[in-house]
Amino acid sequence: MPLLAVETSCDETSAAVVHEGRVLSNVVASQIGLHAEYGGVVPELAAREHLRNLLPVARTALREASISADQLNAVAATRGPGLPSALMVGFKAAQAVAFVLGRPFLGINHHEAHLYSPWLKGQPPVADFSKLQPNVSLIVSGGHTLLVHVRAELDHRVLGSTVDDAAGECFDKAGKLIGLPYPAGPEIDRLAEGGNPKAYDFPRPMIEDPNHDFSFSGLKTSVRYFLRDHPSLLDDAQRLRDLCASVQAAIVDVLVTKTIRAAKRLGVGCVTASGGVTCNRALRQRLTAACERQGIILLLAEKSLCTDNAAMIGILAERKLMLRAEETATDADILPNWTLG
Ligand code: KG4
Ligand code: ZN
Repeated sequence: MPLLAVETSCDETSAAVVHEGRVLSNVVASQIGLHAEYGGVVPELAAREHLRNLLPVARTALREASISADQLNAVAATRGPGLPSALMVGFKAAQAVAFVLGRPFLGINHHEAHLYSPWLKGQPPVADFSKLQPNVSLIVSGGHTLLVHVRAELDHRVLGSTVDDAAGECFDKAGKLIGLPYPAGPEIDRLAEGGNPKAYDFPRPMIEDPNHDFSFSGLKTSVRYFLRDHPSLLDDAQRLRDLCASVQAAIVDVLVTKTIRAAKRLGVGCVTASGGVTCNRALRQRLTAACERQGIILLLAEKSLCTDNAAMIGILAERKLMLRAEETATDADILPNWTLG
């Protein structure tokens, strides 16, 4: 059943066509350049850009998949959580398409789609849910940090989340203090490569707490005080790399320690990770090493599917339709604060 999926929850306009677990096309128009000069996503600008980009992106997705609109068997879109004005563009357009074609429509929870994106493997990506086993799933992006226990397909329970800043937000805010352009996560990753992660000792907030929640705002503040006390550090290229490596190590340490602890506590033998921060090379290496040590299977989302994309929305929507999930009405509203309950 070829299905068209649309994602516009934040600053990526994306459309994808999926068919029987295969991603036939996945087109993403990123708005990073647009928001960079403001140092973060401006919701009104994001919505206008989605309006400009959505139809060309959807047209390209259909063309690349060699599918015409009348061959579509279903339509899906991100319903939440996300920026209201941004969500509305993709969700309402997708509902209109489903209405006109007379096809089923599904509004998808963005985080639930992230949970299954690590199961997409290969080029073109194919989802193999026959191998799905109970797992602890880490979702780390610019807006969210979540640990989720996936007990079985479409059956999950949130274990914990951030009480303040998200991990990606911490990368971006620490990077801003260092003078790096938005989004600073990839730049910190790049600079950290030549740095010593043990050069400076930053706090690992809540790392020892028995719960599964995270907190990153204190780490950002400690970077601010550190730079106030060492203002000349930024003029020295090597010390700048050491600083990036040390900040990155603190964030990664907390994410890896708490994810592995949750898996061990729940007795599950599989960990997955997705979201933009999962592109971070130190996080990928540290999670790989930690899972190997513990005998845990690790599935990391492919880098192209870590950041927001419509392929993961489509794959989940198709699975839901196959498992006879309830359709979403074509006049239903967006859910900007939809939690992964
Ligand atoms: O999932 P995403 O594209 O968008 C949402 O926030 O929903 O994630 C973007 C976040 C940004 O905070 C960005 O700095 C971070 O992911 N990021 C990284 C890396 N690549 C992207 N953080 C650290 N290292 C990276 N390589
Ligand atoms: Zn996301």
